[in-house]
Amino acid sequence: MASKILIIGACGQIGTELTMALRAKRGNENVIACDIREGNKELMASGPFEIADATNYHQIEDLVIQYEIDEVYLMAAMLSATAEKFPMKGWALNMDSLFHVLNLAKEGKVNKVFWPSSIAVFGPTTPKHDTPQTTIMEPSTVYGISKQAGERWCEYYHKKYGVDVRSIRYPGLISYKTLPGGGTTDYAVEIYHEALKNGKYTSFLKEDTELPMMFMDDAIRATISLMDAPSDKVKIRSSYNLSALNFTPKTLAEAIQKHIPEFEISYDPDFRQAIADSWPSSIDDSRAREDWGWKHEFDLEKMTSGMLEGIKEVHHV
Ligand code: SER
Repeated sequence: MASKILIIGACGQIGTELTMALRAKRGNENVIACDIREGNKELMASGPFEIADATNYHQIEDLVIQYEIDEVYLMAAMLSATAEKFPMKGWALNMDSLFHVLNLAKEGKVNKVFWPSSIAVFGPTTPKHDTPQTTIMEPSTVYGISKQAGERWCEYYHKKYGVDVRSIRYPGLISYKTLPGGGTTDYAVEIYHEALKNGKYTSFLKEDTELPMMFMDDAIRATISLMDAPSDKVKIRSSYNLSALNFTPKTLAEAIQKHIPEFEISYDPDFRQAIADSWPSSIDDSRAREDWGWKHEFDLEKMTSGMLEGIKEVHHV
C-alpha cells in the first residue's frame, strides 16, 4: 500500500502548493489535506480534504489513524506580524501543534515529520550577513521565540526518542497562488499584486531593508528533497539554513520596473520594520547544500517574470 501523507495547514501560502506538488508526485488519494478553514477549489477538489484544528490533539490523531498516515507536514502557524498582536495565541498555536505531531511520531503512529522553521529564529545579536548555521540566536519576536523553541524540541525528540523530524529555516517566501498572511516579508508578495493592479505600492519596510527571500517553487523543491533524503544524510535535526536570494524593497521595485516602467514605490514603515531589522540580511546555507544537495534555481529576474505571469493567469489582473 502506498504510504500516506497528512498536510496540516494545507490551505495556507506554503500548504496549498506543497499539497499540489505532493499529490502530483505521490498520487492524489495519498495526500490528505487538512486545515481549520476551506481553501482554494483546486486543492479541495483534487484529493481528500478535512477540516481540523492543529491545536486539537484528538482531531489530528483521528486523521492519522483513519487514513493510516505515514508522514506529516505541519504547516499551520501564526506568522511574525500577527503573533506580535496575539502573543499567547501565537505561542499556543505554534507550540501545541508541534508537540501533537512530535508526540504522534514518538508513539510510533507516524514515521516522518516535516516542520518549518524560519529566519525569525535569529535576532539583533546574530551576525547579519551570511548568518551561519550555528550562531547566536536571541530572537526578539513571539514568532521567532516559538520557532527557536520548536527547533530545540525537534532535535530533542530526534535524539531522545529517535523521531525522524526534518526542518528548514525558510526565508521570506514569494508566491502567487495563495497569499501569505501576517508575515513581515509579505510586502514582497503584495508589491507584485499592487504593481499589476494599481501601478504603485507603499512599502511597510524601508527602501534599504535587505532580507533573505525565495520563490515558492524553490521552497517546495527544497522541502520535498529534504523529506526524500536518506535519513543518514539529514545530519541537522533542529533546522537547516536555506537561502536563494537577498533583496531590498528598492531592488525589488527596480526589478518590477523592468517589466512595468511606470511602476512607482513609496515607503511608510510601520511596526514590522523593527521585526525586519532584527533578522539577517543574508544566510549561509552551505550545510543544506552539502548534506542533501540543495541548489536554488530562481534569481530575482526569473522570480519577477514568474510572479507577474502567475498573478495575471491566476488572478486575472
Ligand atoms: N515570512 C515569515 C514572516 O515574515 C518569516 O518566516 O513572518
